[in-house]
Amino acid sequence: MKVFGLSCSARRLGNTAAAVSTALNHLKKKNVETELIYLIDYDIKPCKNCNMECYYDKECPTPDDSKKLANLLEKCDGLIVGSPLYNGTIPALLAAFLERNPYPYDEILKGKVTAAIIIGSMGETTAASILTSWLAPNKYFVGWIDIDPRATTARNPKLKDSWLKGNITRDEYNQKKSGRVSRKSL
Ligand SMILES: Cc1cc2nc3c(=O)[nH]c(=O)nc-3n(C[C@H](O)[C@H](O)[C@H](O)COP(=O)(O)O)c2cc1C
Repeated sequence: MKVFGLSCSARRLGNTAAAVSTALNHLKKKNVETELIYLIDYDIKPCKNCNMECYYDKECPTPDDSKKLANLLEKCDGLIVGSPLYNGTIPALLAAFLERNPYPYDEILKGKVTAAIIIGSMGETTAASILTSWLAPNKYFVGWIDIDPRATTARNPKLKDSWLKGNITRDEYNQKKSGRVSRKSL
């Protein structure tokens, strides 16, 4: 059994990667093989100058790493997607990847266990509906959770500015919350 975590933040060592790692660590303790993947490691371009070639099984006019990442995701049994909120929605890089992966690539996760962790406090329902529409159809969708970086500071004054430093998972409540997606899924 192999579960991938996909961190969709622009920051490698931010709250998103930390929250997804926490979830993966819960699974590791159950002897599940895990791997953390960073979306920023892939060259993903938005759809451009296209004639809907992918719908007709033709070569895409904008070559990039989308297919490479889609092929990698196909190899997992479960996927936990971590997305921060940027301007009230998912990051542009993730939006680009989802744009680049319409039919037939959305088949890659068919029948797999999926879950999402959203980091932020403004726009989580927008992000949740986008992630749900990607992760839920034809999949065993565990659900999504939201971790609010500002609430961390209110709850734990020692973690002042933690969201800026990428430290929100130092808070016990956030660790439990991100562990919940993995505990529910397996
Ligand atoms: C460009 C940008 C836009 C942001 N917009 C929002 C927003 O609309 N809502 C929100 O709750 N947080 C917003 N944030 C805060 C991030 O969600 C928060 O800093 C999060 O920790 C970023 O993820 P990371 O720590 O993995 O980098 C924004 C941050 C950036 C960099």
